[in-house]
Amino acid sequence: MPSFEPALVLPHGGKLIDRTVDGDLSARSAAAGRLPKLSLDDRSLCDVICIATGAYSPLEGFMGSADYHAVVDGMRLANRTIWPIPIVLPAEPSVARQLGKGSRAALVDGNGVIIATIDVSEIYRADHPREAKSVYGTADTAHPGVAAMLESSDTYVAGTIDLVAMPTSEFPAETMTPAQTRQKFTELGWRSIVAFQTRNPVHRAHEYLQKVALEIVDGLLLHPLVGTTKGDDIPADVRMRCYRVLLQKYYPPGRTVLSVFPAAMRYAGPREAVLHAIARKNYGCTHFIVGRDHAGVGSYYGTFDAQRIFDDIEGELGITILRFEHSFWCNICEGMATAKTCPHGKENHVALSGTKVRDMLRGGERPPQEFSRPEVADVLIDAMKAEPAPVS
Ligand code: ADX
Repeated sequence: MPSFEPALVLPHGGKLIDRTVDGDLSARSAAAGRLPKLSLDDRSLCDVICIATGAYSPLEGFMGSADYHAVVDGMRLANRTIWPIPIVLPAEPSVARQLGKGSRAALVDGNGVIIATIDVSEIYRADHPREAKSVYGTADTAHPGVAAMLESSDTYVAGTIDLVAMPTSEFPAETMTPAQTRQKFTELGWRSIVAFQTRNPVHRAHEYLQKVALEIVDGLLLHPLVGTTKGDDIPADVRMRCYRVLLQKYYPPGRTVLSVFPAAMRYAGPREAVLHAIARKNYGCTHFIVGRDHAGVGSYYGTFDAQRIFDDIEGELGITILRFEHSFWCNICEGMATAKTCPHGKENHVALSGTKVRDMLRGGERPPQEFSRPEVADVLIDAMKAEPAPVS
């Protein structure tokens, strides 16, 4: 693992976890081939990558029941470290029954490739109704995070993991582990770094938030989430193309690092905002942007709930939250603004619904440049021509 300057922000829990195995991987892989196998769904595969590379430090594996219940009920691990979302490994009971405490199993992806091993410390039953209420704030099965949880088994397998084979990244040039981003920030001489989480195509409001933040810090980690998202979100490769054209034309070189965040999206609103902030601290960031309805979906969360959740924990978390109001283009101000900076009525603001934007792009029409940069609109129009997909 590359070394990094201790001057950078400490990882969550104090130590950057590295569960990628050194040494003879082929021997490890061959040994793992003889182990009982546990299949990873797409979300669990993302979790394995985040745990193994240290993005989810201090986790070294999938949570046992003590951590699970402490997280669900009190948003903390059993040792009282803040942690908002259970990181758990569901397994079919028939498969789990074959594993005993103290046994080792191979974790395989959808193609049967061995990705990691797990040293099983516990097998336990989840409390799905409670998990839904506490973590997602709703038991509604229409919520994509709740639906994904309910579709998977409520038997959870706990234990530390060791990565045997890193899954191939779709974005090799933009893939960095937390150790690597820390190394990069050190090389760049950055002391204050703001992270931007996103799962949507970039629009002017995103750009505004990032640039306002760039006024006060050394650099920006543009960190689009590229793990599992719900079916109607824009695919990650299209979003990455949008970011590349935007950076090329509208951002000063040397002030931004574009890298991918391999996590799965849970749509858990406030609790997920805390997870996103913790992960970015692990990547070496000192600041984290939270705008309106961060990690939200539908109308399950209040517009600024994901900011309020930090009010009592920000100091303890050790990353500064940059809270932003809803931002928009104002025709009278002739610029991006928020209610904090613009005195004009809503009728002067450019506001477009997701449906409207989708219809425009599908019809090959660019949304107004007050909403979306033309270069970004063109990427989206091309992508829709190739494979019609909705915009959220
Ligand atoms: S998210 O699920 O990753 O939060 P999205 O990519 O839409 O979704 O948002 C990325 C970040 O930008 C979040 O912090 C969100 O709150 C913020 N954001 C998006 N649009 C706006 C807006 N118009 N005004 C203020 N903040 C916004």
